[in-house]
Amino acid sequence: MSIKSICCIGAGYVGGPTCAVIAYKCHDIKVTIVDLNQARIDAWNSDKLPIYEPGLEEVVMARRGKNLFFTTDVDKGIQEADLIFVSVNTPTKKSGLGAGMAADLAYIEAATRRIAQVSKSSKIVVEKSTVPCRTAQSMRTILDANCTENIRFDILSNPEFLAEGTAIKDLMNPDRVLIGALQTPEGIKAQNALVSVYNHWVPIDRCITTNLWSSELSKLAANAMLAQRISSINALSAICEATGADVDEVAYACGRDSRLGSKFLKASVGFGGSCFQKDILNLVYLSTQLNLPEVAAYWKQVVDMNEYQKKRFVQRIISTLFNTITNKKIAVLGFAFKKDTGDTRESAAITLIKDFIQEHARVAIYDPKVEHEQIMMDLTEPGVLDNRKQVEQHVQICGSAMEAADGADALIICTEWDEFKDTNLDYSQIYEKMHKPAFLFDGRLILDAPKLRGMGFKVQVIGKTE
Ligand code: NAD
Ligand code: UGA
Repeated sequence: MSIKSICCIGAGYVGGPTCAVIAYKCHDIKVTIVDLNQARIDAWNSDKLPIYEPGLEEVVMARRGKNLFFTTDVDKGIQEADLIFVSVNTPTKKSGLGAGMAADLAYIEAATRRIAQVSKSSKIVVEKSTVPCRTAQSMRTILDANCTENIRFDILSNPEFLAEGTAIKDLMNPDRVLIGALQTPEGIKAQNALVSVYNHWVPIDRCITTNLWSSELSKLAANAMLAQRISSINALSAICEATGADVDEVAYACGRDSRLGSKFLKASVGFGGSCFQKDILNLVYLSTQLNLPEVAAYWKQVVDMNEYQKKRFVQRIISTLFNTITNKKIAVLGFAFKKDTGDTRESAAITLIKDFIQEHARVAIYDPKVEHEQIMMDLTEPGVLDNRKQVEQHVQICGSAMEAADGADALIICTEWDEFKDTNLDYSQIYEKMHKPAFLFDGRLILDAPKLRGMGFKVQVIGKTE
């Protein structure tokens, strides 16, 4: 079976870039990305796309209006498609059974029901969202219950492994594409049809085919293992600070072992992003449900260590600033959860700033890509600092690092944007503008600390004493 028309439900960080790249690489396939959110669709159809990703604009502009379309007409998108990606959000549940742990599958179910309701021909339905293991079973039950004689639905799992900030690069040249299917003749036929879509640009040996449940679990497993590496190096960073070992040197020495590899061993102020914590908690919940409490406790520790790392960093800042930051000006450089993205979901900066405000500090924030209003929204979310007035009184959002540093007692690097490196920012001018002693805390290990100490800064770096 050859796919001629694809619909993607969900025009978010995954659906948008993923399907834009499919359109870019497969001119013979019509790709329609649908979403209920009118503002988001309008932005995809405008000159200012709703998300920032290096290279995304070029890809979208090259194919939009040719074989790539963005619309809120969900039903028409579904009806016209041979294959439908379900790429809706699967956040952690906020209330009810499994609150704070389990994935909220309401959006998956709503999209699946819509497919069942409006389809007039057979479809391959692909789970693109990250979901708990065996979610495809529930989707199947809903779709089967609505099947008519001449319509059949085949379900595939095709989790996405892109990282934000490098999404286009990751999609153009993926380490692997994973496609899970029921191991029936029909399931394998559907699996092959999706392999042929990717095969327009991904070599066949990078397309891994597995059963449905392995594919679903592999996505949670990959994120859990990646996050585990960060928590491991962050745990070691605490030992480094107490002993004089240098976490960069430890990471390098360990990473040179080819069995360990060098990637994902950068100590930091803590991992953020919409998925690591959510997916680990999802795995913890799944393990608990399966009556595997030891397994649940094992993975939960990865999240606990991440929380500890953020707290530890805040404590180090406060104790260095003579145990009080009341009324002091703290300049926070970076609000996004990592560089090269405007995404702030679960960013470590949010936790840090919340703690600073609760200590009655004045906080000046600068991020090159995050909008002013987004920062206010994140800081006034329920559970963060729900009092907007308090936030407005304590927070100044700045247009440059220099403005944030003006009159500051401490400068905190929260996101590793290249423009914050000492080779790109004029730290001698920053030093002139700051209160003395001028404290500098590098939560991302991007600065040449000895050089900055030479300028007069009192520098503290995660995982280092000197
Ligand atoms: P997102 O919130 O950016 O986008 C989801 C979109 O789905 C929203 O625009 C929402 O309006 C839309 N939507 C929800 N229900 C809908 C419905 N019934 N019909 C039409 N549209 C609907 O989320 P995201 O970051 O793109 O993540 C999507 C999934 O991909 C999640 O499961 C996530 O875990 C997974 N994932 C995310 C990343 C990432 O880097 N963000 C990477 C890999 C996997
Ligand atoms: C992560 C995974 O890398 C993707 O493979 C996956 O598809 C995605 O989650 C997802 O499922 O959403 P992402 O969260 O976009 O991608 O970005 P990462 O590069 O993984 O960074 C996550 C967080 O870890 C960031 O806050 C980053 O700064 C931090 N990090 C990363 C470190 O602190 N140290 C490192 O060595 C690497």
